[in-house]
Amino acid sequence: MDAYRAEKLILNIPRVPIGFFPTPLQKLDNLSKKYNSSLYMKRDDLSGPEFGGNKIRKLEFLLAEAVKKNTEYVFTYGAHQSNHCRETVAACRKLGLKPVLYLLYLGGGNKPGQYLGNLFLDKIMDAEIKFVSPTPGISAYEAVEHSYKISAEHILQLEKGGHRCYDIPVGGFNPIGCLGFTLGFIELVKQLQDKKIKLDYIVFATGSGGTLAGLLAGKAMLNSDIKMIPISVDVEPKDKPKKIADMANEVLKILGIDTSINENEVIIDTGYIGEGYEKPSEASTSAIRELAIEEGIVLDPVYTGKAFAGLLDYLRKRLIPQDSNVLFWHTGGTPAIFAEREIVGHVYKGVNEL
Ligand SMILES: Cc1ncc(COP(=O)(O)O)c(C=O)c1O
Repeated sequence: MDAYRAEKLILNIPRVPIGFFPTPLQKLDNLSKKYNSSLYMKRDDLSGPEFGGNKIRKLEFLLAEAVKKNTEYVFTYGAHQSNHCRETVAACRKLGLKPVLYLLYLGGGNKPGQYLGNLFLDKIMDAEIKFVSPTPGISAYEAVEHSYKISAEHILQLEKGGHRCYDIPVGGFNPIGCLGFTLGFIELVKQLQDKKIKLDYIVFATGSGGTLAGLLAGKAMLNSDIKMIPISVDVEPKDKPKKIADMANEVLKILGIDTSINENEVIIDTGYIGEGYEKPSEASTSAIRELAIEEGIVLDPVYTGKAFAGLLDYLRKRLIPQDSNVLFWHTGGTPAIFAEREIVGHVYKGVNEL
C-alpha cells in the first residue's frame, strides 16, 4: 500500500490536533561527515505542546476518544520524571480536561525533595499528583500494577459522583495510542519520498514499546524494508517481543490490514541500559555531549541519550555499514535534562565549575 492510501485509512479514526506535525526531518551534517554516513534526525522533541515528545502522537488518538466519551478527568501513570505524564498534562490542559497523575517515586522516601524537570512542569500546569513509592524489593512493574489498583478506587469514587474518567496506561501503550506511531511512520516515509532519501535504518529508544509497535505496524502496512533498531532503557521482561507483536497486530486489525507481525521480528537491543532506568551511563553522558557539541541538539538522559549512545556505538563498530542512510528518531524528553543530578549525570566537563 502506498503512503497516501495508508494515511487516508488512519485519518478515518478520530484524532484531535494537539501537536505540530509533520515534525522536522533534519540532516546531521557534522556527525555525517565524522562517521562517513548520512545521518538524519526526526525531531519529535519539537512536536509540541510544552516541549513535545513522542507521546503527543499517541495522545492525539487517545484524547480524541476521551473527548468523544465526554470525559472530565484523565488518569495516567509513570515515573516521577515521566515525559509521557507531562505531555499528557499539557495535552489535557489544551483540551480543557483535568489531568491526574500517579507517579512512581523510586528515589527513597514518599516524594521527591524538589520539583525539577518534568515534575516542575506538571506542577506549573497544576496536575493533580499522587506519589506512589514502591515497597522495598518489589519491581517497578509490580509498583505500576499497584498504582493501577489504587487509581481504580479513585476513578470509581469520581464516577460514583457523576464525573467521567478516562484511563491511559503507562506510556499510552494500547492499540489506539500506538496508531499514532503508525501514522508517524507514514509521515516519515512521505518526507523521505519528497527529499528522495532511501533510508536504511531507524534507531530510537524503546520503553513501554508503543513507539516500536506503531512503527512496526506502519512498516508492515507499507511493506517497507527500512530496518528498525530499538534500543532499550530498562531491563525487559521475557515476553516483551510477544507483547509488542500482539500490539502491532491489534493496530493492523483496527485498520483492517490483512498481514501480521511475528514476535521473532521484534528484536530489541538491551546493550545500552547501563546500570538501569534513570541511571546515567558513561556512554549516554558522552553521547549527549557529542550531539550537543557537534550539532547543537540536546537529548534527554533517560531515553534518547542511551539510544544515541547505541547509534554511535553501531557506527563506530560498523554494525551499521559506512555510507548507510540512518535516521535517529528524537523521541523528546528534553525537560529531563533539568532533572535531579543523579538522573542527568555529569553532562558537561568540569561539572563543579560555573
Ligand atoms: C523521551 C522518550 N523516548 C522514548 C520513550 C519510549 O517510548 P515508548 O514508551 O513508546 O516505547 C519515552 C517513553 O516515555 C520517552 O519519554
